Order: sequence, then C-alpha cells, then structure tokens
Amino acid sequence: MSVRDDFTDCATDVRLDGKVALVTGATSGTGLEIAKNLARRGARVIIASRNPARLADARNTIIQSSGNQNVEARQMDFESLSSIRSFVDTTVSSEPRLDILINNIGAIGLEDKLTQDNLHVMMQVNYFGSFLLTYLLFPFLRASAPSRVVNVSSLGLILGSIDFENWNKVGQYSSFGYYCNAKLASVLSTVEMEKRIRGSGVSVYSMDPGLGKSEFFRNYDNQLIQTVFNAALKKFGRPLPRVATMAVFLAVDPKFEGESGKHFRDCHEFYSTWLSNDTVLTRDVWDVSKRLVRVSPEEDWEFNRY
Ligand SMILES: NC(=O)c1ccc[n+]([C@@H]2O[C@H](COP(=O)([O-])OP(=O)(O)OC[C@H]3O[C@@H](n4cnc5c(N)ncnc54)[C@H](OP(=O)(O)O)[C@@H]3O)[C@@H](O)[C@H]2O)c1
Repeated sequence: MSVRDDFTDCATDVRLDGKVALVTGATSGTGLEIAKNLARRGARVIIASRNPARLADARNTIIQSSGNQNVEARQMDFESLSSIRSFVDTTVSSEPRLDILINNIGAIGLEDKLTQDNLHVMMQVNYFGSFLLTYLLFPFLRASAPSRVVNVSSLGLILGSIDFENWNKVGQYSSFGYYCNAKLASVLSTVEMEKRIRGSGVSVYSMDPGLGKSEFFRNYDNQLIQTVFNAALKKFGRPLPRVATMAVFLAVDPKFEGESGKHFRDCHEFYSTWLSNDTVLTRDVWDVSKRLVRVSPEEDWEFNRY
C-alpha cells in the first residue's frame, strides 16, 4: 500500500514496519488522523486518551482505515499524574520498544480549577501531562534510539507568557490565556530537552499545526462559544489528514535528523518565539516543571546520569 501523502511538501513514503508509535489524544481530530497515518505505514500504534468508549471506537476506525490490526488502545487521563505514571509502567513493561511519541493531547474551555495534583487543569492537560509523560518515557525511547518525540503546540504560544508565580493559580487567566501559556511552555521545554538529551539518539521537535477542522471547542460550557468557534474551525480549518502529515513527517522523515529542538509549521522550520533564545528561561521552565510534576529520585534520569 502506498503511504505517500501528497497534500503538501510533507510527502514522505517512509515505512514503519517493526516500529512502535504512541499517539496521545488519538480518539478524535488530529490525533486520530496521525494514528491512522502511522498505522498505514506498518507501525504498531498505541493510542491513549481518557475515555474508554471513544478509545475503542478510535481503535476500530484506525484498523478499518489502515488494514493494520496492530493497534492498542490504552486509557490515560492527563488530569491525573498518577494515571500518567501507571500508563508509563504498563507501556514500558509490555512493549518491546518505543520509536515515536506524538504528544498531541490538548483541550480548551475546561473548568477553571486545580487538579488533584495541585496544578491548573488547563496547564496540566496542555503541558504538564506531556512533560511528565515524555520525561518518564525518555529512558525507553533512548533504549530504542534512534527515536523521536513530536510536541503539538499552537500559534497561540505567541500570546503566552511564563509567570511561575501565577501559571497554576485559579482565576488568573481566561481559558485561552492558560492554553497559550501551556503551549509556550511546551515549546520552551522542547528547546531545553534537546540540550539535556543531546547525543542520546532521541530527537525532539515542536510544531504548530495551524487551524484544523476538529471540534476542539467542545469542552466549553457556553453553547454559543462551542457552536461559533467549532463552526469557524470547520470553515477555515485545514483537512485533518493534511494537518496530521506534518506531525508524521517530523516523526519519520530522515530530513529532520540533526534538527532536534526546533519548531516547525507547514513542514518547515518556523519562528517559535524569541523567548526560545532565553537560556535561563528555558532552563527554569524545565526545572520548575520537574519539581511541579514531582519527578522522584528514581525517575530522575538526569540525576541518575543516564
Ligand atoms: N484544531 C485546531 O485548530 C488546533 C490549532 C492549534 C493547535 N491544536 C492542537 O492540536 C492538538 C489536537 O487537537 P484537536 O484539534 O485534534 O482536538 P480534539 O479533537 O479535541 O482532540 C483532543 C484529544 O485530546 C484528548 N484529551 C483531552 N483531554 C484529555 C485528558 N484530560 N486526558 C487524556 N486525553 C485528553 C481527547 O480525548 P478524549 O476527549 O476522547 O478523552 C482527544 O483525543 C491539541 O494539542 C491542540 O491544542 C489544534
């Protein structure tokens, strides 16, 4: 089966037979299309989200559209750090390897509240969850190297700010404000991660998918916001299979060897934010994130000098 996607100059015919890929937030939208694309290339694909019924439906859809039966659905709720830790334990103990991690989970319009982990729910779902997942999976990715991590960010990051005092406080920002802060933190931690893992054989990239035809605003209580913004995405967004090709391209194409730590849009390097050049800020984002998600001494591969 041809796996070449000719939507954009992201076209690549790389196959992934024998490889294992994990796509988070793959029950709908972009993540579902990324998982289908990777499955068409022959990878074993693990999909992870919080809702078992939606996971089961997504798994069937991926199998039907790709003809690849090797698809595993595994529950993980980003509102709970212990759910992420138990997901990692299961994955590391049951999978032979991990070649690709696509951090795609994201949400907007969630209730303005703290999680049981004392982090703002918007920050945890859009940033801290992926940070912890990636941190915990890094030794496994390294053991499978060359391997790649792709962090799905957003153009919204240019409106974001990093305010360590307030980024987890309730009532400080609108939902969109927390979202932009989280997407900025995701890109800054990508820059910092590259420095910390250089030479490991694991590459890490961030990307701006642009607008996509998903129902991303479905979590808003306000029906008007839901309807108007989802209609705008349907009208102005790009087809999701096309958006997915960008993440897949970064995850598989040989062209990106040596490009680790960079930010991409439309299959090319893209301006992220001048804050990426602030080495003190990227270092602090990384160190504060580690503290807030409570990386333990046993989990701390930096401390343990991998
Ligand atoms: N659509 C756009 O225009 C756009 C623009 C810029 C960036 N993005 C980014 O693209 C990514 C994909 O978004 P999308 O547009 O495809 O939206 P989507 O269809 O709403 O997909 C979001 C995915 O995240 C999962 N998710 C949400 N909260 C979760 C939680 N607490 N725990 C586990 N999984 C959770 C959802 O799973 P369940 O609800 O099934 O659990 C779903 O699979 C996000 O990171 C988003 O920020 C999208």
